[in-house]
Amino acid sequence: MSNFLGYRCSLCNAEYVPGQVTYTCPKDGGNLDVVLDYGAIQQKFQPEDLSSRAEDSLWRYLPLLPVADPGGDGTPLRAAGWTPVFSIKRLGEKLGLEHVWLKDESRNPTASFKDRASALVVARAREIQAEVVVTASTGNAGAALAGMSAAIGQKSVIFAPKSAPAAKVAQLLVYGARVILVDGTYDEAFDLSIQAAQEFGWYCRNTGYNPFTAEGKKTAALEIWEWFNQTKEEMAECGEDLDEASLTIFISVGDGNIISGIHKGFKDLLALGWMEKMPRLIGVQAEGSAAIANAFHAGTEKIIPVSAKTIADSISVDLPRDGVRAVRAARESGGTYIQVSDDEILQAIAALGPLGIFAEPAGATAYAGLVKAAGQGIIRGSDPVLVLNTGSGLKDVRAAMQAVAAAPIIEPRLEAVKKVL
Ligand SMILES: Cc1ncc(COP(=O)(O)O)c(C=O)c1O
Ligand SMILES: [Zn+2]
Repeated sequence: MSNFLGYRCSLCNAEYVPGQVTYTCPKDGGNLDVVLDYGAIQQKFQPEDLSSRAEDSLWRYLPLLPVADPGGDGTPLRAAGWTPVFSIKRLGEKLGLEHVWLKDESRNPTASFKDRASALVVARAREIQAEVVVTASTGNAGAALAGMSAAIGQKSVIFAPKSAPAAKVAQLLVYGARVILVDGTYDEAFDLSIQAAQEFGWYCRNTGYNPFTAEGKKTAALEIWEWFNQTKEEMAECGEDLDEASLTIFISVGDGNIISGIHKGFKDLLALGWMEKMPRLIGVQAEGSAAIANAFHAGTEKIIPVSAKTIADSISVDLPRDGVRAVRAARESGGTYIQVSDDEILQAIAALGPLGIFAEPAGATAYAGLVKAAGQGIIRGSDPVLVLNTGSGLKDVRAAMQAVAAAPIIEPRLEAVKKVL
């Protein structure tokens, strides 16, 4: 589309026109940021032009996206994004916080945040007439690519570690993707999928490799911007003034592409002059998979791989592929990184459930980070806070069962009911 100027390398700042490169910087392998023509967008659009659109999906932000409308009306591809924000006041009160909300990304068509990225990549695939799109995935990115592709009859191939939770593998198969389970880690599946893409001429969606994934993920920032503006107005009408306060957002982090995509969305809004202050972005990693948090706290952008081990399979990553931009997202927004244990992640699942929110381990990780941050005084009681739940608890039922006590099994007699009550 005409507002898409090309790419800029996040490491060496080299610029490329759209047809010149496809994935990462040829000079140094750096992640590429999509460059938009802000001047042209400003001339054609005002914020109200977006917020007044009838489209209740991420496609309402088409003027800020580097793809043309992919069509697919009436299909799940059109339904990605525009997820609800719930007040989680009851949990906030326990933590001494006045204004806490949760944006529930499990409401996306394939039940995770990854639909945002896959929707954009499928749109791009359609533009460049790619016959097959491939991705490596811990499960969710693959399910999202399989589902978004299925919606418009695009062929997809998914490489996932054979240890991926059964529900995620079931999704891949049911959506009709070509599924290849790798007897190895996510990182090994990642490298293999790139080799296969080169060998067979497939278009590769890999997270932290394909520049369009972050553009899809940034749509969450655009939604948060609209939602927060509206919330501030509504609260002002009730005499509660959030105007001066900036928002703090908690995001679970694996490869680092969600947090860097959300950062990009806010940077776009600042560059357009449509937002005054960057929200504070706080990345939350599992202790057993914390390469980005380690780099952040060491004050460096050098990402040293770990041997990842955590119950939160979606964020179990040895070498994060978007680590540098993920470190910057927290640093440049005045945020930080927090690490949480698997026990704290399970407790977070159990805490969110009674509010009607069912999160998979990686989804609940962001809330576990908020609990820790509140305990450490990283946020003040009056700070408005938004937590992302990035994936549905139905994706990993085995982990969910570890978060709660088992239900009693009884004989079918009223006496037995009385005994267990
Ligand atoms: C549910 C969920 N949460 C968080 C993440 C982390 O996203 P990223 O790898 O871009 O940091 C993922 C990635 O797969 C995910 O599936
Ligand atoms: Zn470069």
